[in-house]
Amino acid sequence: MGERAMVDVAPGGSAEEVSLAEIGLRYEVDGEIATITLDRPDKRNAQTFATWSALAQIGENLPQQVRVVVVRGEGPSFSAGIDLRMFTPEGVPGQGSFSSTATLGGAAFDERIAQAQKGFLWLRRPDIVSVAAVQGHAVGAGFQLALACDLRVLADDAKLCMKEPALGLVPDLTGTKPLVDLVGLSRAVEICLTARVVGAQEAARIGLAELVVAPGELMQAVRDLADALLATNRDAATATKRLLQGAQGRTLEEQCAAERQEQMARIRSLFG
Ligand code: CAA
Repeated sequence: MGERAMVDVAPGGSAEEVSLAEIGLRYEVDGEIATITLDRPDKRNAQTFATWSALAQIGENLPQQVRVVVVRGEGPSFSAGIDLRMFTPEGVPGQGSFSSTATLGGAAFDERIAQAQKGFLWLRRPDIVSVAAVQGHAVGAGFQLALACDLRVLADDAKLCMKEPALGLVPDLTGTKPLVDLVGLSRAVEICLTARVVGAQEAARIGLAELVVAPGELMQAVRDLADALLATNRDAATATKRLLQGAQGRTLEEQCAAERQEQMARIRSLFG
């Protein structure tokens, strides 16, 4: 994928080609590492439907050689969440507002949110490892984007906040499941229903971050992690991630059977 994306943003509207720069995104591929940068620092990397549509397209067109996807934000904040213009009657130019979305029929409404979720879901694919590099605020959709990644490296000034319930909404950008998986139901209820800020040290303590570093060391720490991830065998890494992702939904016996299946394929490909 180049510097442009086909963006289908307005409910019922037609897709239109716009530059990633216009959407506030940068995307670079360097060998086995792809880096997606939310790049609207003056608006604290607020996200729109165009952001999510472009993210989905990046996922669909990810070059085959990519094994690690880094998601980062330019400027002082990872992301201040959804663009608050969505809450105004005027909305975001070309993308409508919540008041226009509210009038959609059930199926169209469902489809609109499903389209947005596509921008987040691919980050869990077994053939890649996604890493969020989070500094400053990660609010609402920003927190959910970090949760959509497999791993989170936080600068020690990171502030995570699930703001949606405070705004009369629910978190709907794929974040509720990873949050519960990571911190447990009680802590997830407490974090979401108070909409409080979780700082970096607490995030690491409760399982929301793999690593906390000084802000100036964030990208080097992510690079070191990516290098370590790239040091393992690609196919074994994919199969192992698939196994780990399925573990919670299986009994021990089912998981053992899944291990046997994956190992048979590995050993046959290595020695067959
Ligand atoms: N949407 C649009 N613009 C935003 C924005 C947002 N979410 N967040 C910040 N901005 C803009 C500000 O309006 C300001 O613009 P101007 O310079 O033109 O006035 C600029 O970014 C800088 O903002 P601040 O001065 O507030 O920056 P800060 O560093 O002092 O504070 C912040 C950062 C704590 C994130 C604060 O900006 C903030 O609280 N933003 C709103 C967060 C929010 O409520 N987001 C929505 C969460 S809900 C969600 O994402 C999902 C959902 O609803 C479905």
